[in-house]
Amino acid sequence: MSGFNLAIDGPAGSGKSTISARIAKKLNWTHIDTGAMYRAVTLKAIELGVNLEDESSYRFLESVVVHYDFDKIFVDDRDVTEAIRSEDVTNNVSLVSSFPYVRKKLVELQKNAALHGNIVMDGRDIGTVVLPNADLKVFLTANVEERAKRRYKENIKKGKDQHISKVIEDIVVRDQKDSTRKESPLRIADDAIIIDTTYLTIDEVVDKIIELTDKKENKHGV
Ligand code: CDP
Repeated sequence: MSGFNLAIDGPAGSGKSTISARIAKKLNWTHIDTGAMYRAVTLKAIELGVNLEDESSYRFLESVVVHYDFDKIFVDDRDVTEAIRSEDVTNNVSLVSSFPYVRKKLVELQKNAALHGNIVMDGRDIGTVVLPNADLKVFLTANVEERAKRRYKENIKKGKDQHISKVIEDIVVRDQKDSTRKESPLRIADDAIIIDTTYLTIDEVVDKIIELTDKKENKHGV
């Protein structure tokens, strides 16, 4: 085995991406935000004007390259890091990510990205499907009000003022879609360590996960 694979899963607003990015920075590892990849496919499909409900619409993935690098996401060579956070993308990404063809294509890319190890990958199915043999699997949770509050603050920073009740509603709907879909639903891997982040700061969660990583590394000599 070459290097450590750290899988971080959890529902919308649980802090996965922020926490994974910080861990990667601290350890000098690579971070892959798989949610950003599903968002990028959604953005491309919307821009192409294809029928989002039809699985065959996503055949463009045979030639379009989705690539995540240094916390930036690219579709072919275009940086879409900002564009993938639009409301239109958020409202459609659960539908797009429910198609087996789309998942197959992206999971392939994600597995390849992890081959070199020393990677932090975050998403919904990392511990269960993408990296079932990960050295450490963490599942982050937080109550829905706290998750909505975090997303609300993020939105405000970006100049998007959406009422908190709408943010809660969006999160509940997305959680429901993500955990009930047929293909790779959001599920806690049997061997994942669950961390409830409701009353923890980002740094507290980061430190906790790094501590767990150290313990595993020392045990296995990874
Ligand atoms: O908004 P948030 O950061 O919580 O979500 P995200 O991580 O950007 O993921 C956006 C959407 O992509 C999720 O709601 C899922 O529908 C989908 N997704 C997935 O199906 N599998 C993954 N490994 C990651 C994301």
